[in-house]
Amino acid sequence: MPEILLTELIEGPAVDRLGDRFQVVCLPDIWRDPVELRTAMQDARAVIVRNQTQVTKELIEFSKRLEVIGRAGAGLDNIDTVAAEQLGIAVCNTPAENSLAVAELVMGLMLTMARELPAAISTTRAGGWERMRFNGVELHGKTLGLVGFGRIGQLVARRAAAFGMKIVAHDEYLPKDAGVLQELDVPLLGFHELLGVANVVSCHVPLTAQTQGMFDAPAFAKMQQGSWFINAARGEVVREEALLASLVSEQIGAAALDVRETEPPVDVPNAGLASLENVYLTPHIGAFTIEAQTRVLEKVCRDVADVLDRK
Ligand code: MLT
Repeated sequence: MPEILLTELIEGPAVDRLGDRFQVVCLPDIWRDPVELRTAMQDARAVIVRNQTQVTKELIEFSKRLEVIGRAGAGLDNIDTVAAEQLGIAVCNTPAENSLAVAELVMGLMLTMARELPAAISTTRAGGWERMRFNGVELHGKTLGLVGFGRIGQLVARRAAAFGMKIVAHDEYLPKDAGVLQELDVPLLGFHELLGVANVVSCHVPLTAQTQGMFDAPAFAKMQQGSWFINAARGEVVREEALLASLVSEQIGAAALDVRETEPPVDVPNAGLASLENVYLTPHIGAFTIEAQTRVLEKVCRDVADVLDRK
């Protein structure tokens, strides 16, 4: 029976080093089967997960030897942190380690939308040379609305400012006099106010009871006609049917989604969102750079070992 169970594909030098000191077992698909997961967890002192494993109250209570839950990533929405705290089980995540990768992906998605890069590349690869079709737009001079102005939102703001974008932000938790707002010259607006002034809205909020479904039909209706929407945070903050309707009616001009309401999505290929040329879908790769994953795994493995060593 493993001392440390890895329930998704989690591998690399940091994991190997953890294996030199503890009995580590990686079962990369076990998150798909809650019954098998329970059985595998029964003797584990630690579990390390990404975002697919649902670490529920029931699973935590069942895992009698559990001392620490390691989250190889930032979001804690798949872990019942309240249940863990009640039972004295440590939870360690890595919010600082992958923010830069997410911010860079958001910049990439914005440039992709501005220049329709996938279609420009695929038509050229197929032998075409459609110069006049790909007359894009510049990011310079556009207003970027960041919904959520924490670590990732701020990293995006710094990069977008270098592109000459004007930045506005909405954040329920940031004090109005936070130094970063002044430093980056970013006004803090109400949610609907931001939606009304931004040419591009990018979402950077965690998934909570308050943020779930916050981008719904009324929110999309408040956005400027033809504006763009980006989500590299959590899929469940967007009502996808409402987004689809807004794209079809051309209220929203383009959307880029790295995260989905259900992951992996249950889309029929080339239907719904996946059928629209102005929708750019990526498979939740925001945090997936070699550098970010190295930092994430170094940190989560170190933190998990520290907790186990303390006992
Ligand atoms: C995160 O929360 O760190 C990212 O979305 C990546 C992940 O969930 O693993």
